[in-house]
Amino acid sequence: MMAAAQTGHGVPPPSLSAGVVGSFAYFTVKDRLPTILTKVIDTIHRNKNKFFEEFGEEGVLAEKKTISFLSKLRNELQTDKVVLPLSDGFGDADSWNQYLQRQQRLQGDHESVSWFKSPWLYMECYMYRRIQEALWFNPPISDFDVFNEGKTQSFFESQQAVMALCTHLEGINKNVEQLSQNELAEHFNKLLRVSLWGNKCDLSISAGRENSQKASPLDSLSSLQPFILVDDANMVWSTLLSAQKPGPSGTTTPGRVDIVLDNAGFELVTDLVLADFLVSSGLACEIHFHGKCSPWFVSDVTAQDFQWTIQQSVRANHKWMSKCGNQWQTYLKEGVWSYHDHPFWTLPNEFCDMAADAPELYATLQRADLVLFKGDLNYRKLTGDREWDHTVGFGTALQGFRPAPLCSLRTLKANIQVGLQPGQGERLSSQEQDWMTSGKYGVIQFYSPHSEH
Ligand code: F6P
Ligand code: MG
Repeated sequence: MMAAAQTGHGVPPPSLSAGVVGSFAYFTVKDRLPTILTKVIDTIHRNKNKFFEEFGEEGVLAEKKTISFLSKLRNELQTDKVVLPLSDGFGDADSWNQYLQRQQRLQGDHESVSWFKSPWLYMECYMYRRIQEALWFNPPISDFDVFNEGKTQSFFESQQAVMALCTHLEGINKNVEQLSQNELAEHFNKLLRVSLWGNKCDLSISAGRENSQKASPLDSLSSLQPFILVDDANMVWSTLLSAQKPGPSGTTTPGRVDIVLDNAGFELVTDLVLADFLVSSGLACEIHFHGKCSPWFVSDVTAQDFQWTIQQSVRANHKWMSKCGNQWQTYLKEGVWSYHDHPFWTLPNEFCDMAADAPELYATLQRADLVLFKGDLNYRKLTGDREWDHTVGFGTALQGFRPAPLCSLRTLKANIQVGLQPGQGERLSSQEQDWMTSGKYGVIQFYSPHSEH
C-alpha cells in the first residue's frame, strides 16, 4: 500500500468527528495553531519593557510591528487564506517557496493552497516559519526566542526528576568498567526508555501549557512497559555491538551515534544522559546531536537551548547534576560530542526528500552507525505523515530514507502509526479513540538498511 494521502489533505466534510483520521489535523489547524499564535503575541507584548530597556524606542516599535504582522497571520490562518510565499529573503526562503509551488502543482490549478486545504504537516511548519519571518523583519528584536520562557520553565519544573536521573547515571558511571555486558544491556534498556518517555514532555501538544516531569522517570518504567506498542530495543542494542570495530592490539573502537533531538527541558536531559552512558560504557565514541536553527514547535531544541541546559547543569546546586554538566562540557570541548543544525530540519519536507534536497545532511547521517530520531514530529517526517495502514512496515513508510540504521523514540501524538501487528491498531481503536494522539503510548521502532525489517 503505497499511495497513502498526507493527513489533513483536503477540506474535511463538516460531519467528521474529532479522532477520525483527517479530522484531527483539521481541528489542529483551526484551533490549536491560533492558540499558539495568540500566546506568541502575548509573550512579545509582555516583553515590551525588556525591548525598551535593550533597544529604546526602536525596540518598542519593532514589538508593535511584529505583533501587527502576527495578528495578520492569525487572521490569514483562521479565515483559510491562501498560503503566501516568504519574502524575508533568508537562506531557506527559496526552498519554502519551491515547496509551495510543488504543493500547488499537487493540488492542481483549480484550488489555491490555503490553510485548511493543505496537509497539516505543511501548515504547522509554515506557521512556525512565518513567526520567524515576523521577527526577522523586525530588527533589533529578531533574535528573540518567543518560546524561551516556556522551555526554561519546563526545565526548572523538572528539577527533581533531572537530579534523580543524574544521580542514577553517577551510580552507573562510578563502576562502569566493571559491568558485564548483560548489566550494560540492562542499563542501556532503561536509559533508552527514559529517553522515550521524556518525549511526553513537549509543549506543542499542550499548546504551550506547563507539561514537565515531576517524579523520577526511572520509577515508572515497568508500569509504562505495556504502553510501548513496538519495542525494537534489542535490535538497537545489537546494532551498537556490531558497530564496534577491531582496534589496535585486541581492543575495539566503538561507533558513532547521531541523535536528532526534539524538545528542550526534561526530554533534552534524558537524551544527554543516554548519550553520556553510550560514551562512558564504550558503546559509542562519538555523539552528534542535531537541533533546530530557529525556535520551532514551541519546545524544540536550538543551539542556545542546548548550551543553556548544559550550563544550568554545571551551575546546579546538586553534586551529581553539576558533575554531569561538567562532563558534558568536557565531551563538547574534546569533540566527543558535537552539536549541529541544518535548515532542512525546519523545512516542511518529509525525510525521504533529504537525499535530493539536503544531500550533505544525508551524507552526514550516512556516517553514523545508528541514528536516533526523537519525538512525534520526526516520526511524522520519517513516515511522510501519511495515512498508512497500521500494518505497513516501517521500512516501507520510510519511502527510501535509509541513511543508516535508525530508531524512532516517539510517544504518539499524531494520527499515524505503522509497523503494528495485524489487529493491534483495531483493538486499540476500539478501546481508546485517541490512542494515537494522547501521548500515552510510545514506540521504540528500528529500521536497518542492512537487514530489511
Ligand atoms: O500534537 C501537536 C503537535 O504539534 C504535533 O504536530 C507534533 O507532531 C507534536 O505536537 C510535537 O511533538 P514532538 O515534540 O514530540 O515532536
Ligand atoms: Mg517537539
